[in-house]
Amino acid sequence: MATLDTELLARTAPLYERVKRVIPPFEWATFAEDVDAILDLKRRRNAVVLAHNYQTPEIFHGVADIVGDSLLLAREATKVDADVIVLAGVHFMAETAKLLNPEKAVLIPDLKAGCSLADSITAQDVRLMRARYPDAPVICYVNTSTAVKAESDICCTSGNALKVVESLGVERVIMLPDEYLAQNIAKQTSTKIIAWKGHCEVHELFTADDVQQLRDDHPGITILAHPECPPEVVAEADYSGSTAAMSAFVDTKRPPRVVLLTECSMSDNIAAQHPEVDFVRPCNLCPHMKRITLKNIRHALETNQHEVTIDSAIADRARQTVERMLAL
Ligand code: 13P
Ligand code: SF4
Repeated sequence: MATLDTELLARTAPLYERVKRVIPPFEWATFAEDVDAILDLKRRRNAVVLAHNYQTPEIFHGVADIVGDSLLLAREATKVDADVIVLAGVHFMAETAKLLNPEKAVLIPDLKAGCSLADSITAQDVRLMRARYPDAPVICYVNTSTAVKAESDICCTSGNALKVVESLGVERVIMLPDEYLAQNIAKQTSTKIIAWKGHCEVHELFTADDVQQLRDDHPGITILAHPECPPEVVAEADYSGSTAAMSAFVDTKRPPRVVLLTECSMSDNIAAQHPEVDFVRPCNLCPHMKRITLKNIRHALETNQHEVTIDSAIADRARQTVERMLAL
């Protein structure tokens, strides 16, 4: 346990106010020194921290400048006025930020913060899909490598996938690599969607039986599901949307009791701000997101590790794929 430095705790007290409902005081005492050091490093280095909704509350509410879903993080990355961007999220998010900010230093605190979806498909796989369905444009989920983006026509996130599909005005599209996202979107459009067999290792664990169990155990509960969940889970849920859309749903509707079928830090981050909402929390953790900690964010700012670099041979094509999405 960190030594209780009264000045340090007083300096970080306004931040603790934001998370006191989800972080007990003795735990905050172990975070305060790193939070304080990160705030100082950000000032000295003219750096910003972009954090995904799945980051833990001490990162999300304690040191992040911009928080949101993958779409918001990509959009905001185009507007950042700083020399250094630290991406508190997974590797594809840092690569996307770097694609949109080639002149800035983009740091990812742990290079092993990957994603099962991004790992499920290669650039060669995309070329094979194109050869098989030459008339179908390729939509790649943002959860992909730069090499896969370079082989694709347009990017999408869970927040705009339907809009991206419909913007193309064609009979059929290839949407990869998330099979469940593709199937969930296919139910909302007349465009035929050819999918890949990638899955998110966190969301694929939820089942329709889990939804039924939740309803039996908590009568009246509101169930929100991320569209990376299997279609039978989304079909049983009350609402499905990106992490930002789920957060907005709780902000506006204030359901008395809710469960978010997604990564479990999301509920902590929203619960910190909504004492009136009762969150039921099945805890499916994303092991990749959880690689990011206050300690390695601090280390990244102190040592400039790990700076994201992009192969120049593919950067332009991948950037266009992301920019076509942002232009919609
Ligand atoms: P969002 O774009 O909805 O934040 O999702 C990102 C992600 O990795 C979900 O698992
Ligand atoms: Fe990838 Fe799933 Fe983790 Fe999101 S939750 S980063 S999709 S493995």
